[in-house]
Amino acid sequence: MAQYSPVLNVMMAAARKAGKPLIRDLGELENLQVSMKGPSDFVTSADKRTEKILIDELSRARPGYGFLAEESGAIEGKDRTHRFIVDPIDGTTNFMHGIAHFAISIALEREGQIVSALVYNPATDEMFTAEKGHGALLNSKRIRVAARKTLSHALVATGIPFHGHGDAARFQAELDRVMGQVSGIRRFGAASLDLAYVASGRFDAFWERDLAPWDIAAGQLLVKEAQGVVSDLNGGPDMLDQGSILAANDALHPVLLKVLRAAGKS
Ligand code: IPD
Ligand code: CA
Ligand code: CA
Repeated sequence: MAQYSPVLNVMMAAARKAGKPLIRDLGELENLQVSMKGPSDFVTSADKRTEKILIDELSRARPGYGFLAEESGAIEGKDRTHRFIVDPIDGTTNFMHGIAHFAISIALEREGQIVSALVYNPATDEMFTAEKGHGALLNSKRIRVAARKTLSHALVATGIPFHGHGDAARFQAELDRVMGQVSGIRRFGAASLDLAYVASGRFDAFWERDLAPWDIAAGQLLVKEAQGVVSDLNGGPDMLDQGSILAANDALHPVLLKVLRAAGKS
């Protein structure tokens, strides 16, 4: 049996509680696809409800901790050394379309460092967790990044700019450079799960720009604790401030970073 720290147990219980109604919502969303009203109000209220459950549960167990949450923004706590970074539904567009690929993402930051993390897909009941210095787990079983060392064998995930978001020309240049050299590119639509999939060896690498801290705070720790390498797209450690990320194993990370940086210069 895996040993989780008390705070990670609290985070997991909160994610499970908030995740249950989302499974029910998925069924309702199937019906809403064909209604005139469409699913968008429904999704907004699911997002808000999920975040409220998470904040209520986490604050009850850890009063005084602060939050940085997608819907509520920054909430200062009495305890200035701890805050939870929360994305209530990562992969909202999938959720809105009734696609069961979305996640609750929770990271705990202690004195500026992410020390505990979870990414939970309620639809598949996959709970990815990590604690700094203690490795990464999927449903209590240890996970590791993939061992593939050759770029031409690598399955690489990314995020594509969309309406009103991101730099399409820059992405196009990066895609042009990467796609001909790898075995496949995937755009699954939930950055937290993209990182969890790198951590568990399903994807060999993932890169994306223009992300928010709550998209990647938990996932980046999963990858590090699964023996992977993460950086921003300049190769530095400032993923959360910069909003860009590259995650892979230690062999592929430098190779992909070079390819992506070369695309920026073309
Ligand atoms: C989005 C997802 C998506 C990424 C977007 C994010 P949301 O988060 O992580 O994969 O490409 O940039 O905003 O809006 O579904 O929480
Ligand atoms: Ca997100
Ligand atoms: Ca979200």
